[in-house]
Amino acid sequence: MRFEGSLADARRANLELRTAVRVLWRQARFQAADTDALYAGAGTIDWSRFLAPEGSLRVDAQASESALEHTLFVEQRVKDAIVDQLRARHGRRPTVDKDAPDLPVHVHLFRDRCTISVDTSGDSLHLRGWRTFQGRAPLAETLAAGLVLASGWDRRAPLLDPFCGSGTILIEAALLASGTAPGLFRKRFAFERWPGHEAARWKAECDAARARIKKPAKLTLLGFDADRGAIAGARENAAAAGVEELVRFEQGRVEAFAPKRGWNASIVTNPPYGERIGDEGDLVKLHAGLGALLRDAGRGYRVTLLSGNPRLVRALGLEPVRSFELKNGGLDCHVSFFEP
Ligand SMILES: C[S@@+](CC[C@H](N)C(=O)[O-])C[C@H]1O[C@@H](n2cnc3c(N)ncnc32)[C@H](O)[C@@H]1O
Repeated sequence: MRFEGSLADARRANLELRTAVRVLWRQARFQAADTDALYAGAGTIDWSRFLAPEGSLRVDAQASESALEHTLFVEQRVKDAIVDQLRARHGRRPTVDKDAPDLPVHVHLFRDRCTISVDTSGDSLHLRGWRTFQGRAPLAETLAAGLVLASGWDRRAPLLDPFCGSGTILIEAALLASGTAPGLFRKRFAFERWPGHEAARWKAECDAARARIKKPAKLTLLGFDADRGAIAGARENAAAAGVEELVRFEQGRVEAFAPKRGWNASIVTNPPYGERIGDEGDLVKLHAGLGALLRDAGRGYRVTLLSGNPRLVRALGLEPVRSFELKNGGLDCHVSFFEP
C-alpha cells in the first residue's frame, strides 16, 4: 500500500497499522542503468537526516529486468554513496551493521528505475513486543490481525479460536476491539535512532494512543487448545499485551468443543495442517469432526480458517462462501470463509 504524508504520519503508521510488515519512506526515484547513475542518484539524498557519522547502516537491494541485476553490487554502490557523502561532510564515516543497523535502506530496481527508501520500522512489524511465549507454530501477529479483519467480525460478537496455540488470533482481536495500537509494546522503531528524532513528540503520540484504549466491558473471546503448555503460554502472552481480562483460554480438545446452538459468533482459526506425512489421516478425522460440530450448531457461526492443506479443508464437508490464497512462511495457504 502507498500513501503520502509527513514523518509524523510515518510514525503513526508504525504505531497503528495492524497488518503492515514495514513502513518504507521513499527518498528518491531515478533511472539507473549503470553504477555511476546509481551512485549519483543515491548521492542526491541528504543522508545526514537519517544517519550520524558514528551510526550504522545496512542496504538491501532487489532488482529485476534491469541492467544492474547483481544485488550485492547494487547494495555496495549505494552504501558507498551514503558513506562518502557523510565522510565528506563530517570527516568520519558510519559503519555497516547487518544485524541491527541504525538505518536500514531499501533499494528497488525495476526496468532500470531505481527507488531508494529508508525503512522507518527496522525489525518487521509483526514483532509487536507482546509475545513472550512462542509455541510450536505461531501465526505472525500481522497475519492474525489480517484474518480477524478479513473475517468481518464486528468487534462485539463472541469470537472463538478452537486451535488457539499461543493465542495470537484472540490477542490481536482483543487489541483491535479495545482500540489498542499494536505498536505500543515495541521497544524500538528504526526512526527512533535517527538524528533529530523528536523524542518528546513521539512520547506524546504514544501517550495519546494509550489514552485512546477503551476496553469493552462485555466481550467473549475464547480460545481452546489440546496442549496445556500452549494454554499457559497464551495466557502469558495475553498478560504481556495487557488484554488478559478480555480473553479466556481453556485447555480442551476440539472433539469436546460444544459450540452453542444458534450463537451469533465468529470462529477465526488455523487448525494443525501437519507437516509430516502420516499425520494426515488423523487430521482428516479432526476436520470432519469439526465440520460436523459446526453444522450441528446451526446457523449464526461465521468461520474464517487458514490452512496449508486443501484436502483437510475439504474434509470439513462445508462449502466455502469464498476463499483466497496467500503465502505464509513460504508455504501456499488458503483462507476460507464458511457460514455453515
Ligand atoms: C497451527 S497451530 C495454531 C497456532 C496458533 N494460531 C498460534 O498463533 O499460536 C494448531 C494448534 O492446534 C492444536 N491442536 C492439535 N490438535 C488439536 C485438537 N484435537 N484439539 C484442540 N487443539 C488441537 C495444537 O496444539 C496447536 O497449538
